[in-house]
Amino acid sequence: MRVLILNGPNLNLLGKREPDIYGKTTLPELEARLVAFAKEHNAEAVCMQSNSEGAIIDAIHAADGEYSAIVLNAAAYTHYSYAIRDAIAAVSVPVVEVHISNIYAREAFRHASVIAPVCAGTISGFGSDGYFMAMWQLCKR
Ligand code: DQA
Repeated sequence: MRVLILNGPNLNLLGKREPDIYGKTTLPELEARLVAFAKEHNAEAVCMQSNSEGAIIDAIHAADGEYSAIVLNAAAYTHYSYAIRDAIAAVSVPVVEVHISNIYAREAFRHASVIAPVCAGTISGFGSDGYFMAMWQLCKR
């Protein structure tokens, strides 16, 4: 089991960015914990972050056939990127959508996820634990 953990725009600022919403853990800390969690479950996690829509799409394309699954926090692109939605639909690698915050309890523009219908499932509102919940689900398959 090889999993790509793909984080979108502004998530490089985790720990500094609105810590009351997104927590105090930095992205490098979170990634190191996810890599260790994967190892404990006989899996491999590879982490990537990009602020660019095109780079996220390229990573989804490249993951097809290379990874068993993608754990994706598309951040604000979640709410309007039909291009990322189409990229997920175009590949056979399953994608699990993760959000640190509960997008349904926030501003109205965050209530819609254009990627949810093409994802295997969604985890939202459990802080950075959501990434581990997604990994756990994938590792027990
Ligand atoms: C987010 C929620 C999005 O609405 C927001 O734009 C983000 C992070 C989350 O993890 O809670 O950047 O995806």
